[in-house]
Amino acid sequence: MCGIIGYTGSKKSVPILIEGLRTLEYRGYDSAGVTVAEGGCLSTVKSKGRLTDLEGKLKRNAELTGSCGIGHTRWATHGEPSDTNSHPHTTDNLALVHNGIIENYAEIEEMLRGAGYAFVSETDTERAAKLLDMLFVKSGDPLDAIRRATKVIRGSYAFGIIFKGYEDVIYAVRKDSPLIVAHNDEGGFIASDIPAILKHSTSYYRLDEGVIAKISKSSLEFCDLSLTPVEQKLETIDWNIEQAQKGGYPHFMIKEIHEEPEAIRKTLEPRIKDGLPHFGIDALDGDLLSSFDSIHIVACGTAMHAGLVGKAIIEKLARVPVNVEIASEFRYRDPILRKNDLVILLSQSGETADTLAALRHSKACGVYTLAIVNVIGSSVAREADSVLYTWAGPEIAVASTKAYSVQCALLYLLAIRMALANHKLDEANARHICDMMLQKIPSAVEKALTLSDKIYDVATMLVAAEHLFYIGRDIDYALSVEASLKLKEISYIHSEAYAAGELKHGTISLITDGIPVVALTTVSNVCEKTVSGIREVKSRGAYVVSVCAESLVGKYDIPCDEMLVIPDIDEILAPFPAATVMQLLAYHVSALKGLDVDKPRNLAKSVTVE
Ligand code: M6R
Repeated sequence: MCGIIGYTGSKKSVPILIEGLRTLEYRGYDSAGVTVAEGGCLSTVKSKGRLTDLEGKLKRNAELTGSCGIGHTRWATHGEPSDTNSHPHTTDNLALVHNGIIENYAEIEEMLRGAGYAFVSETDTERAAKLLDMLFVKSGDPLDAIRRATKVIRGSYAFGIIFKGYEDVIYAVRKDSPLIVAHNDEGGFIASDIPAILKHSTSYYRLDEGVIAKISKSSLEFCDLSLTPVEQKLETIDWNIEQAQKGGYPHFMIKEIHEEPEAIRKTLEPRIKDGLPHFGIDALDGDLLSSFDSIHIVACGTAMHAGLVGKAIIEKLARVPVNVEIASEFRYRDPILRKNDLVILLSQSGETADTLAALRHSKACGVYTLAIVNVIGSSVAREADSVLYTWAGPEIAVASTKAYSVQCALLYLLAIRMALANHKLDEANARHICDMMLQKIPSAVEKALTLSDKIYDVATMLVAAEHLFYIGRDIDYALSVEASLKLKEISYIHSEAYAAGELKHGTISLITDGIPVVALTTVSNVCEKTVSGIREVKSRGAYVVSVCAESLVGKYDIPCDEMLVIPDIDEILAPFPAATVMQLLAYHVSALKGLDVDKPRNLAKSVTVE
């Protein structure tokens, strides 16, 4: 997803812009560029490729020394990655960077062509830049031009703009795409995300929709779209620089896997009061949870897979039917939503466009919405009726790991709370599970982390595979689906997850000599059945890696080539250390292949387009 940074102050802007863009690399990009205001001119340098390509170009150009500039990393949506399509987009009068998608760009282009404008790029952004140009030429007033442009543009945008004649000022406005603003003695900043300004500021404003920011070295002003001054809420950054960096680990992903015990503790502790789940800190009335007849968990990717674990545990404990939905499908298939349904939206970033659209659709249908989100103040968090924050801290690696674990942890707590409210669980049992969750999950995950060397050894056996299968039943199947996604997204090995009993209905024809099958067994009542499935693949030549709960190891004769034993924990909580083991396996395979673990090809951390 595109990354935006802007700086205006007394220092040279280029190093600040490049450094800021580097911290946004995790969002994924294919080209980058900067515009710097100097001597009454707006000088722009752009390059397809990585930031080093842009730096090379900047070095070859005459040095840009201006102290007001905007920078951008582009993740192509309209038009291929190229120098021309990259941002900033410029006109005679302004330079603009954009994150989002302008839906009516074709209409805007037609209107602008009629007014004599021509276009050099294929981007929707250039159409927005030229629309602003036309409006600015008419009024000579940047704020008025922005205000009028927002009335014409349909779609999502976070814009950073510098106008000629106002070369020490950055203007910003957003809709549906994130943008933050910071200001201090050093000057003013805009950015797509906190890591880009962490080095410079400990506080920031998350720009509200329909608010324009005007940022200069010495002042920061906000106004609404009628140009009336408004206030924005100043928020404190409680992530330190170390947290947002790798902290000695070779990759963000492995660092973030190691942060799971702490993240789970932080997420659970404040929500367990007198031994029972309590959402007072989230201002969520637990009794409300008893009023729903059925639940829809809606999310994308890994968050959706956490929803599968949530479904298993909510149905098991609270006996409320749960339907897990892929957010991108949800809205368009006209889901049946009834008055007493609850829609739970899961999202690490809180900015995933499909999840946001599903949330808005649910609200429009009059259904109560509850978000489980990691990024504070993000769009999903702000728009849902209630929000439970997962306190996992920043997740930088594209592959989601700790966010998944804490989403599962919160879904467990919700399940217990609902089970209590529905009288499916008595207080003593609820207390027992809560106590186990607090006492045992973090330590079991810590133990799982100590298996890293053994998991590395197993990874060496999988690294050359072209295809791989994960199998399991019940909650082990839910875990397999996520394990499979984790492996394929960062190792580029094709993998599929199958319910162990389903293989024989077709897919087993793909099992030939040496095909790796990772088999999960943590659920005792289906273990024997899964073992039958393992026998079926083993006898057809599969290379079987068994991932088995310690308590089940001696009980069943599991035919396998390798075994990873999940640290002992009560069966109901086994998904937590099991998920960590699977994440480590995917990590080691990717690292062994020498791939870009944190930034896999074609992927972005936060998918803010539908
Ligand atoms: O920020 P979100 O949790 O809404 O993101 C959802 C998915 O895009 C995300 O989980 C994606 O599948 C990750 N690459 C998985 O590792």
